[in-house]
Amino acid sequence: MVLITLDGIDGSGKSSLLSALEKSLSDLSPVFTREPGATWVGEQVRRAIAERADPVTEALLFAADHAAHLEAVVRPALAAGRLVISDRYTDSRYAYQSATLEGIIPDPLGWLKAVHDGWTVPPDRTVLLVLPVAEALRRKSGKGVSEHFEEATLLERVQENYLRISAEEPMRFLVIDAGQPEEKVHALVSSAIREWHGSLRSRHR
Ligand code: TYD
Repeated sequence: MVLITLDGIDGSGKSSLLSALEKSLSDLSPVFTREPGATWVGEQVRRAIAERADPVTEALLFAADHAAHLEAVVRPALAAGRLVISDRYTDSRYAYQSATLEGIIPDPLGWLKAVHDGWTVPPDRTVLLVLPVAEALRRKSGKGVSEHFEEATLLERVQENYLRISAEEPMRFLVIDAGQPEEKVHALVSSAIREWHGSLRSRHR
């Protein structure tokens, strides 16, 4: 009955944080899930990425993946009273597709919000990991910005979008400096999730 999402640019450290959380939060028996790829629709998304489909096709496939994810995983788990922790969620669309659709449709964020309106399940809380793009690229591939110029330009815009979205909803977002030592990031996020789980669960009693 509590939905927590983790978001951030590629290389921001979500994967190692999630494997640490799987251990430290095991007593809460959370349902760990992800976007894209919790259902077969995710395979079509990966294909669209690999074939460099046009940005509108890609955005709609990510939204379709979200719909299938809600139906197959998120809604049933919340209905069963579980704590759900999702690796990426709607904010990934708002940050990434706002950037990829720039110049293709007039108001990408407005369009993306309209696409989700009325059927999505808003997260209770969201952890945003923030790391300078150059550092994220170094962590991901061991190479710097110059070797990844195109990707770096896109990720800068994605990061700006994340920061803008989180500033609009300060009550929902916990923004974490992912440049801190891994154990520190893990300790902060783990205790925040425990606290949210305790306080948000009692809403329904
Ligand atoms: P992800 O599976 O998290 O990356 P990885 O393969 O490294 O584990 O996500 C794949 C890519 O898709 C990543 O660059 C982020 C992007 N993405 C979007 O552009 N929009 C979305 O809505 C989502 C969920 C992901």
